[in-house]
Amino acid sequence: MSAEMVVLGIETSCDETAAALVMGGTDVISSVVSSQIDEHARFGGVVPEIASRAHLESVMPVVRRALAQSPIDITRVDAVAATVGPGLIGALLVGVSAAKALALALDRPFIGVNHLEAHLYAALLDDPEIRFPMVVLLVSGGNTLIVHVTDHGKYHVIGQTIDDAAGEAFDKVARFLELPQPGGPSIDKIAREGDPRAIDFPRAMLHDGLDVSFSGLKTAVINHVRQHPEVTTADVAASFQQAVVDVLVAKTIRAVERTGVRSVALGGGVAANSLLRQRMEEESAARGWHLVLPSRAMCTDNAAMIASAAWYRLRDGVTSPLDMEAMPNLKLGDPL
Ligand code: KG4
Repeated sequence: MSAEMVVLGIETSCDETAAALVMGGTDVISSVVSSQIDEHARFGGVVPEIASRAHLESVMPVVRRALAQSPIDITRVDAVAATVGPGLIGALLVGVSAAKALALALDRPFIGVNHLEAHLYAALLDDPEIRFPMVVLLVSGGNTLIVHVTDHGKYHVIGQTIDDAAGEAFDKVARFLELPQPGGPSIDKIAREGDPRAIDFPRAMLHDGLDVSFSGLKTAVINHVRQHPEVTTADVAASFQQAVVDVLVAKTIRAVERTGVRSVALGGGVAANSLLRQRMEEESAARGWHLVLPSRAMCTDNAAMIASAAWYRLRDGVTSPLDMEAMPNLKLGDPL
């Protein structure tokens, strides 16, 4: 197995159709992401049936674009990978079926990838110098996990949300504030005009272990706005964002102290948040951590992270059978 091996990755777990070519695990040759955000916008959230149909229309054009943007010919592809879970079943099936068909046609192995594991690899795509062990804060629309990663494929979830994911909280609060979806970027933007100390929202479980809880915070925002209709949206957004980030940063510090690691990585869509990135950079500088902060494009769903995670599996001689199914409820660490 050579470092020159190329993996074609396909991602269709939610509302982004993506394809990418990655060589040597971390060299992103091309990466194309086609978002369906506009198609779901008027419904205020992702509609599974619309997502599946949009993936069907986009998946092969997106794969073709990824190939066209790369200097590498399709015959140089050594394996075809796709997200097998977690995600929406209909959406996953499109990417899995496309990847299997391509693998079969090219006579190359198929590799099924866990989307959550791929988010861990996304953190490393912009900083290939992997320094295990590390703590990864994985904060997306569906998950909030604090993961102790000791080696490739060796993960221990040491903290997680007991209710809403961080991204879910951003999206729900944005919906309540009538800001555009996805809510995270909208709150991030308007929060810049607000005062983060305007409202002292609760920081649930701040001094209590490594788990987090965001549903009470969302309720507190709703109650506060109903009781104080004169409050500005910018102040609510800034104070809410401050509360979420305070909790995430405090838990990460505790996780680092407990595990004794020196490296911290961020992953998932919420890792694109300006305040979270700034606070993590400040803490890392003060505490001497090696911080792996992926570019914003690598934080949100993309196929480069799928191809990268698959590359390490291929390097270790691990491929997947063609009858591997889509697994909508896959957890981090579940065997594949
Ligand atoms: O990882 P991701 O693209 O999709 C999955 O959930 O797998 O994450 C999407 C989530 C959404 O909830 C979105 O609102 C949030 O990431 N997000 C942000 C920001 N950008 C995206 N949250 C806070 N600040 C941001 N700048």
